[in-house]
Amino acid sequence: MAGVSLREVVDDDIEVFFADQQDPVAARMAAVAPREREAFLAHWTRVRADPSNIMRTVVAGDAVAGNMVSWDQAGERLVGYWIGRDHWGRGVATAALRQFLDLLPAGPVHAYVATANTGSIRVLHKCGFHLAGPPVTAGDGIEEVHFVRD
Ligand SMILES: CC(C)(COP(=O)(O)OP(=O)(O)OC[C@H]1O[C@@H](n2cnc3c(N)ncnc32)[C@H](O)[C@@H]1OP(=O)(O)O)[C@@H](O)C(=O)NCCC(=O)NCCS
Repeated sequence: MAGVSLREVVDDDIEVFFADQQDPVAARMAAVAPREREAFLAHWTRVRADPSNIMRTVVAGDAVAGNMVSWDQAGERLVGYWIGRDHWGRGVATAALRQFLDLLPAGPVHAYVATANTGSIRVLHKCGFHLAGPPVTAGDGIEEVHFVRD
């Protein structure tokens, strides 16, 4: 999609990310419980302080549309993303993830997605990820699938 770009995360973006993750429709889709404000801000402070994390703000047109984050977990490089509902269905996540993958170190990139999150799974497929194993039900009772891009 034309008009989607990535840039460094700045303080003001966090308010937009907070509002987006409070959206009950989005939270249901991602199968995560929205964080309260203080916990959300503390989470982002930790994420931004760790130099092994890679993150960008997604800009669509001139609006902050969401974020892309990558972190190292038990030796796997993971990716996660969140796009605000105002921007859904226009190819924003796909365009942003494609750009974001170019910024990551060489090697496999992993993503864990709730089995029911059809939209996110489609985004991963479009960006070259493939299924890496059978669905697994995590401790929170949510069934998720593991994707990898070699
Ligand atoms: C999932 C999410 C990233 C999709 O963002 P988006 O910008 O709307 O995605 P795109 O427009 O790039 O869509 C890519 C494909 O997925 C499909 N898709 C998107 N949302 C969908 C949905 N809810 N149901 C079914 N298909 C969907 C699109 O139709 C498109 O497929 P196509 O090219 O074959 O038509 C976004 O809805 C989101 O951030 N949701 C809340 C947080 C979340 O789930 N994050 C991911 C956690 S793993």
